[in-house]
Amino acid sequence: MTVRRGAEAGMLFASFQDGEGCKSYLVACSQSCSAAVIDPALDLVDRYAGEISKQGLRLRYIIDTHTHADHFSGARALHEEFGAPIVMHRNSPAPYVNLYVEDGHSLPLGDLRLTVMHTPGHTADSISVHVNDRVFTGDTLLIGGTGRSDLPTGDPNKLFDSLFSKLLSLPGETLVFPAHDYKGREHTTVGEERRSNPRLAKEERLDFVALMEGLNLSAPTHLTEALRTNMSGGKTVRQLLAEAAAKVPFMSMDELKRRLDRRANDFVLIDVRESDAFAAGHVPGAVHIPRGQLELRVNEALPDPSVEILTVCEFGKISTLAAATLRELGYGRSVALDGGMSAWREGGQPIHISS
Ligand SMILES: [Fe+2]
Repeated sequence: MTVRRGAEAGMLFASFQDGEGCKSYLVACSQSCSAAVIDPALDLVDRYAGEISKQGLRLRYIIDTHTHADHFSGARALHEEFGAPIVMHRNSPAPYVNLYVEDGHSLPLGDLRLTVMHTPGHTADSISVHVNDRVFTGDTLLIGGTGRSDLPTGDPNKLFDSLFSKLLSLPGETLVFPAHDYKGREHTTVGEERRSNPRLAKEERLDFVALMEGLNLSAPTHLTEALRTNMSGGKTVRQLLAEAAAKVPFMSMDELKRRLDRRANDFVLIDVRESDAFAAGHVPGAVHIPRGQLELRVNEALPDPSVEILTVCEFGKISTLAAATLRELGYGRSVALDGGMSAWREGGQPIHISS
């Protein structure tokens, strides 16, 4: 993660880059201290919050330049923390957008004006945001490249128009800040891209479309989950697990081993894996209640809600969800084993095999 700060007169500016080449930006009016975040990534939400607080800013807009297919948007997390509206183009399918914008709309940000340019092609809802000396181009125009046009709602013909009729019409000295750069570069200019961007060498529509259609790119790593969460407002699996993990304490393997060694029987050990896995080897003394049956069997299996309960699974994730569920059900002393049976076996700890 890198953060760079810089500004022209009247503007505060910071850029952020995560380890996967996703770029995001903080723009603020230095007079009024009102700020906008552009293309926030979920993993960097605490960094934006830190920067906003460090510079004494008030967040006014959270802008996603388009529906991202390759990473998780941090827009909702920022909205929950700061209450600022989430801004996207009206073509956005995301149900959590608070402020839909269209080509030519402006958003006042103190003395600054953020002007929206609809630049579809990478996606139907792609916008670029122009403010003073710079334009945030999302994945429409990249440094030495363009966004791809083969993902859902992409269209190489529209991308051609967005590039040649809109973005390249801006003054040559306009600074270009894209949503991605995989080589750690900060920005470019419209003039530089006109001169040296190999994709823009195809100035004939048919040549450009043929180039884009022939790229044959592999799908982004998190495509389905990113689209699911960014389009629906649902949670990522990691978020769900992190929320469960925040609600339960964990017990270390060493602590469990100590308890087994002293034959402690004042707690209940529940293995929540499926039957085959349980039979193949479990912690001695473990009770078997598969995660899928947990809620339906607790009354019979755990009549005393005041007992300490330790949940165990294969890798330590399902047991976290199970312990969080048990706490919600009133078993207030539920904890999860830190790590799972795979780590327990690797550590050479005692195993009981069902006969
Ligand atoms: Fe994108």
